Amino acid sequence: MEKTVCSIATAPAQKSLSCLLKKLRSSIILLLFALVFPCAVAYDPLDPTGNITIKWDVISWTPDGYVAMVTMNNYQMYRHIMSPGWTLGWAWAKKEVIWSMVGAQTTEQGDCSKFKGNIPHCCKKNPTVVDLLPGVPYNQQIANCCKGGVIAAWGQDPSAAVASFQVSVGLAGTSNKTVKLPKNFTLLGPGPGYTCGPAKTVPSTTFLTPDRRRKTQALMTWNVTCTYSQFLASKNPSCCVSLSSFYNNTITPCPKCACGCQNKKSLCR
Ligand SMILES: *[C@@H]1O[C@H](CO)[C@@H](O)[C@H](O)[C@H]1NC(C)=O
Ligand SMILES: *[C@@H]1O[C@H](CO)[C@@H](O)[C@H](O)[C@H]1NC(C)=O
Ligand SMILES: *[C@@H]1O[C@H](CO)[C@@H](O)[C@H](O)[C@H]1NC(C)=O
Ligand SMILES: *[C@@H]1O[C@H](CO)[C@@H](O)[C@H](O)[C@H]1NC(C)=O
Ligand SMILES: *[C@@H]1O[C@H](CO)[C@@H](O)[C@H](O)[C@H]1NC(C)=O
Repeated sequence: MEKTVCSIATAPAQKSLSCLLKKLRSSIILLLFALVFPCAVAYDPLDPTGNITIKWDVISWTPDGYVAMVTMNNYQMYRHIMSPGWTLGWAWAKKEVIWSMVGAQTTEQGDCSKFKGNIPHCCKKNPTVVDLLPGVPYNQQIANCCKGGVIAAWGQDPSAAVASFQVSVGLAGTSNKTVKLPKNFTLLGPGPGYTCGPAKTVPSTTFLTPDRRRKTQALMTWNVTCTYSQFLASKNPSCCVSLSSFYNNTITPCPKCACGCQNKKSLCR
């Protein structure tokens, strides 16, 4: 226990002591978890296997690219993605453009001046995508979309732990040999904290038809896994934050600095 409780002895942490003690009663198990798991980057000590997966299923080829269903699953035990919701970014590997989207939109169109007639939804090399708000017209919706970017934690509400949108990509490969996977995925919750790995081609997802009598299969599937780290989320990570600000800072307010404030090494040995 000594190691984490370390900085309680230091002066600026006085306030946090009462907070910690209050939490202690209800969070003794969480506290034990916090003590058992050592500090690490891109790692949430309270939910060491938690992650958010982003899966792209190519569902059809088009004359100049493909249409993909993008599905995000929040496989975290406690951490919801709260309002104002997720922001997903990536970098195209080639000169791809987004012709259209259903269930989400990019924040910027970018420079589409070289297009005449049909203008793409987005021409940026690094598109940034956000969810639509509830109540958008029905023809802009798709299953699991349009919740203002809010995704529940799988450990709390598995049925609401998913978000999806559809994207039609142009100037892209048109077969599983020529498609280049998008690179450098970034995921923001309401703030920083997530690190995403590279996209990897995985076995194609199979889907059951609505009557459940037939299986169909994506033409190509790739996955990206993102993990959360307290240390990326906050410059002054603190024991108190990791114990109590899980859902809502307002409900369980805490001083910004509980330990490791002057000397981060005191938190991480
Ligand atoms: C993602 O989280 C799920 C649920 O905790 C776990 O089963 C899976 O192994 C994790 N995947 C990775 C790549 O960490
Ligand atoms: C590409 O698709 C063909 C035909 O559907 C399949 O046989 C092949 O295994 C796929 N290749 C890859 C790399 O997925
Ligand atoms: C991805 O990020 C790396 C490192 O920041 C950078 O070197 C590379 O050019 C990026 N790739 C693309 C396609 O933007
Ligand atoms: C890819 O992601 C999906 C959805 O989260 C998951 O069910 C599947 O197991 C993942 N595949 C691999 C090979 O990680
Ligand atoms: C936190 O809780 C307060 C009071 O219940 C509420 O007003 C606020 O919107 C919540 N914040 C978030 C980010 O959910």
